Amino acid sequence: MRKPIIAGNWKMNKTPSEAKQLVQELVPLVADANCDVVVCTPAVNFAAVYEVIKGTNVKLGAENMHWKESGAYTGELSAAMLKESGCEYVIIGHSERRQYFGETDETVNLRTRAAVAAGLIPIVCVGEKKEQREAGYTDTLVTYQTLTALTGLTAAEVENVVIAYEPVWAIGTGLTATDEQANETIGVIRAAIRSVYGDAADKVRIQYGGSMNPKNAHGLMQKPEIDGGLIGGASLKAEDFSKVVHFE
Ligand code: PGA
Repeated sequence: MRKPIIAGNWKMNKTPSEAKQLVQELVPLVADANCDVVVCTPAVNFAAVYEVIKGTNVKLGAENMHWKESGAYTGELSAAMLKESGCEYVIIGHSERRQYFGETDETVNLRTRAAVAAGLIPIVCVGEKKEQREAGYTDTLVTYQTLTALTGLTAAEVENVVIAYEPVWAIGTGLTATDEQANETIGVIRAAIRSVYGDAADKVRIQYGGSMNPKNAHGLMQKPEIDGGLIGGASLKAEDFSKVVHFE
């Protein structure tokens, strides 16, 4: 059995004082959660958030990281910086980074490998755009994105990676993939992982992401392939996020 994982992706929202308030409200609401709970926040909020969640079941995540250990990369953050700030997770290759900041499957792979090497758990995002689904190559695309992201990892390392299947057309739009669509494509991703890494595929947790909220979380989470959610908009309010965490 894979333990479900619900992660918030705050994106470019919340200042340190707002972030502190949000996790202060959140921690008691999710203390009894049956799943792993993660909040991924802008780096400027790490200290404020970590101070509140330290020692609780809520874990800290970053929204991106660079693959080099250090050096002349103005504006970037290293794995060591994230770890020392209390991060256990890091989102890699979110579609907004691919779309607006030139992220490629190759740099997603470099970041994923660097995260794993540093002992961080990467949440690797894959997913198709609307026109790609309509053209019928969602399965081919997510297979390529997933296997490229994982290239160079051992099966034992792959087991601990989290994949987030996020159809781009469902992010921030209020459009959700149907439970069946999400389950089916996540099944394709798991089969792709199995084709290279064998039984590690049974351990990898694969989340759904894209307008997941308190209303649709239960249905999505009933599906056998869906092991959690990456939650954008609905993670910005403690009550909403806690309802997703309590998807049962
Ligand atoms: P959304 O974002 O829940 O606001 O659609 C999800 C994501 O981008 O991770």
